[in-house]
Amino acid sequence: MKSKILPMRRILFIHGPNLNLLGEREPEIYGHLTLAQVNEQIAAFAAKCQIDPVFFQSNHEGQIIDFLHEHRREAAGIVINAGALTHYSYALRDALESVQLPAVEVHLSDIHRREAFRHVSVMREVCLAQISGLGVESYRRGLEVVLGFLARKELQQFLRETKSVDAAYRQCVQILKRDFPKYDWAGIYLVEGEELVVHNYIGAPTPHTRIPIGQGICGAAVAEEQTIIVADVNADPRYLACSLETKSEIVVPIQGRRIYGEIDIDSHTPDAFHHHDRETLEDMALDMAGFLDEQTPK
Ligand code: DQA
Repeated sequence: MKSKILPMRRILFIHGPNLNLLGEREPEIYGHLTLAQVNEQIAAFAAKCQIDPVFFQSNHEGQIIDFLHEHRREAAGIVINAGALTHYSYALRDALESVQLPAVEVHLSDIHRREAFRHVSVMREVCLAQISGLGVESYRRGLEVVLGFLARKELQQFLRETKSVDAAYRQCVQILKRDFPKYDWAGIYLVEGEELVVHNYIGAPTPHTRIPIGQGICGAAVAEEQTIIVADVNADPRYLACSLETKSEIVVPIQGRRIYGEIDIDSHTPDAFHHHDRETLEDMALDMAGFLDEQTPK
């Protein structure tokens, strides 16, 4: 089968006032990396996510607004560290709302553990999330949130256009594996009687093609009817080892009128799954469950 080549999605990375001085500006708060080094790290991660990053820094509110307007049609999303403008710029807030792109507000420092004026963000309510206090990691997580939003939209579009349950399960796995480089193994298991049976996956071959419900982390998620995140699989006695490389795992049940199955993801990175991974995957599982409810007779 010929694979469809998608155009690279363009994501805007915007840095506000004073961030041009990174490296020399209060390094004990903002770190030792220069802005160029921060952008290099973001670009390396963006390449793994197969997106096209566009970087912009300005000390001027109006220039940032103009930049947003200019790129509003060809960009797919925004990751913005608006610096101090975060705390008071209603004009920038309105610009973010006007361009109608999924945006995430990020900060290098933890704004909630600093002066009171930094606790307020006037752009938070027009952004998907606020991520602060993780240094450059804030930008990487910001990008993951934007990609999660886009992944869900893409799956929703697919579910509107297909009647095939099989195709839907495959598409879900393909989108996840394509957009999240830390998802080293992504697959779907379906409930069949008292067992979970693997439907499709992308990643290293697994010996666990059938898992009794209640066994392993996969079996536990269905038995408990809830998402399970395991930060260190080697410390969890439930883990059914399949690859020495796997360090962490998330399992999300696909639950509508009944539990149809689950999304299972392994990562070679320890503690790879955060609450935004959970949110994206639970939202996608919910969409899948709604579709499955429609396709299966009551
Ligand atoms: C910042 C936090 C803001 O309060 C501050 O004005 C900045 C940088 C951060 O990245 O931690 O300029 O957004």
